[in-house]
Parts: sequence; C-alpha cells; structure tokens
Amino acid sequence: MRQFLLFLHVICFALWMGAVAASMFVIRTLEPRLTNPDRASMDEELLKTYIRHEVKLVDVAFLGVLLTGVLLAQFFAGWTLWTAVKLALYFVQFGATTLYIAKFIRPLKYPCSPNEYKRWQGLFAVSFSLFFVVLVWTYFGRDL
Ligand code: HEM
Repeated sequence: MRQFLLFLHVICFALWMGAVAASMFVIRTLEPRLTNPDRASMDEELLKTYIRHEVKLVDVAFLGVLLTGVLLAQFFAGWTLWTAVKLALYFVQFGATTLYIAKFIRPLKYPCSPNEYKRWQGLFAVSFSLFFVVLVWTYFGRDL
C-alpha cells in the first residue's frame, strides 16, 4: 500500500509539474501573436481554451499530491518535521501561485506589450522555484 501511494504521489506531482512546463511552451509560442494587435483576439480564445483544459488536469494532480502525501504521512512516514515542512511548502506554493495569477495574470488584456507579457515568465519562475525547494527538501531534508 505504501509503495502504491508513493507511486500515485510521484505521478501526481509529475503531471502537475509537467503541465506547468507544457504551459510555459504554449505561452512562449503564443507571445508574438498575443502581443500583435492584428492577431490577438483570435489567439486569446485559443489561450483561454488551453488554460481551461490545463486547469482541469492540474486541479486533479494538485489534490492528488496532497491526498496521497497526507495518507503517506498519516499511515507510514509519520508527522515529522520533514512531512510538516512539506505540507507547509505545498500551501505556500498554492498561495504564491494563486496570488500572482490574481495580481499579474488575470488583469492582462490582449494585445498587450511584450513587457506586460513578461509577467507570464514571473509565474513560471514562482512555480518552478517552489517545486525546486520542495524537491530539495524532499530528498535532502529528511536526514536533517
Ligand atoms: C509539490 C509538492 C510535492 C512534491 C513535489 C513531492 C514529492 C515527493 C517525492 C518525489 C517523494 C518520494 C521521495 C523518495 O523517493 O524518497 C515524496 C514522498 C513523500 N511525500 Fe511528497 N511531495 C509533495 C507534497 C507533499 C505533501 C503536501 C505531503 C503531505 C504531508 C507529502 C508527503 C510525503 C510523504 C509522507 C512522503 C514519503 C513517503 C514514504 O516514505 O513512503 N508530500 N514526495
């Protein structure tokens, strides 16, 4: 059971991080079009449709990481400093990402200037740096 939960835990985190990586390429691909007044209206619809699909996957994977992590902590690994910090980092990641989207991404209107469009890079920087912190803690924090 422990192995099965760990298997699901790692699959959920991999899908979540993978979806963020794929979105980075979609956003980069659409940049010349969403910063171009002649094209933006058509591609804004495309971006919105993509985000709708991506969010559906990320919501399931995100909740899957939490559920499997809590079950692993509760029934196998125990509630140690290591698991408590992981849980805390998870909510920091959730808070930082949703706050950034509400403050910088949702207000974006297309076509926007290339400078405004750079806000998307900030979102990926926040997301990947927190994944990095969680993974460093996961692999190197356990023996502290
Ligand atoms: C971005 C979030 C997360 C990532 C990337 C992540 C990643 C991982 C990875 C890669 C492992 C396997 C480590 C190994 O092979 O030794 C693991 C194990 C574990 N994770 Fe997470 N995790 C995340 C969130 C959480 C959360 C929120 C909890 C809840 C408390 C949690 C609890 C655990 C536990 C208890 C284990 C150890 C399982 C065992 O020893 O059998 N994780 N995690």
